[in-house]
Amino acid sequence: MKVAVMGYGTVGSGVVEVIESHRAVISKRTDGEPLEVAHILDLRDFPGDEREALFTKDFNDILNDGEVKVVAEAMGGVNPAYDFTMKLLKAGKSVVTSNKELVAQKGLELLETAKEYGVNYLFEASVGGGIPIIRPMDQCLAANNIEGIAGILNGTTNFILTRMIEDKMEFSKALKLAQENGYAEQDPTADIEGFDACRKVCILASLAFGKHVYPNQVETEGITNITREDVSYIASINGVIKLLGQIKYISEDKIAAFVSPAVVFNGSQLASVNDVFNAILVRGDAVGDVCFYGRGAGKLPTASAVVADMVDAAKHTERRKIFGWGAGSEDYVVDYKTTISMPFYVRAKSSVGAIKSVFGEVKFLSRYGQPADEVAFITDKMTENELKNKLEGIKFINTIKITDY
Ligand code: HSE
Repeated sequence: MKVAVMGYGTVGSGVVEVIESHRAVISKRTDGEPLEVAHILDLRDFPGDEREALFTKDFNDILNDGEVKVVAEAMGGVNPAYDFTMKLLKAGKSVVTSNKELVAQKGLELLETAKEYGVNYLFEASVGGGIPIIRPMDQCLAANNIEGIAGILNGTTNFILTRMIEDKMEFSKALKLAQENGYAEQDPTADIEGFDACRKVCILASLAFGKHVYPNQVETEGITNITREDVSYIASINGVIKLLGQIKYISEDKIAAFVSPAVVFNGSQLASVNDVFNAILVRGDAVGDVCFYGRGAGKLPTASAVVADMVDAAKHTERRKIFGWGAGSEDYVVDYKTTISMPFYVRAKSSVGAIKSVFGEVKFLSRYGQPADEVAFITDKMTENELKNKLEGIKFINTIKITDY
């Protein structure tokens, strides 16, 4: 079957590579018919690339090729990926994507259009890179009421935090290493400020609870305030700091969803997820906790999920896979800061006595090289707003949520 690939960056080139290098196994799964890449769309030139003959800068070459039934979109960003995807779906072509920004922003419209035109819009690679999570959540856990989800959803930040924890590396050096390895987005802001994880939270929440959640509904904090001092205090209580996306069911028409650094204790399945690996822990009322683990970023792991979707779409050109969700609403995602109680780690320029007078008997932490005027402690459970009120008048340096996962 003729297919096309839009975007020839890390993921797109990986998709072409996997299609070529895994021809035999792919053919077995598509009734003997291999996937043949007929067009690669990219505005850049790739002189000397062995696939030079397949390149086009004109989207219409794909749109107007009646033999192309399945297109992989690995362009990233909302536009022009949204416009191209819409046109392809309306032309009766299935589209598969690794583009989490597009699914998080425009997934509802694209899924509805796919339904209307009887084609598939698949997005397994948009969350967790190569980890199977979209189908397992939608199909294998279909009998459960999902109570909550916690995920390490960004490979770059997990890589950075792991280097800070294990090698005592500076943040900036660890970021540079992540970029050299091809994990970080072109502009690493999306990784380190948590926006990339936020988009993945939107997709998971939409899928788990059936209503579209948009990025602006998910309170998001990145890892740029995390220091080696925080890492050191948390290590003293057998914990590690992870960038977590958390989703909690509240009622039929309310959920909480947020992204932030969070402390997980050794013993949690999430604590030992290191480097570029991702993990998504889903808490179902029948199954209990299920954890999905694997490579969450990188060329071939992500291509593995994209090509699997292409195979699925190629096998189902006459039938729609039922993935999707309905419209959301503005008040669907509650303000977690006033509704969810949890303990917090706090580091402050203060004294034990001053902290006790506000927080009562709390657990104080220590670290090597701790200055005399610095305290770090773990609070009782409270909402973030209650914490903020208590911290008024205290010179705090950092606060980090503590999870129950
Ligand atoms: N930059 C992303 C990450 C790529 O580090 O996880 C995969 O979405």
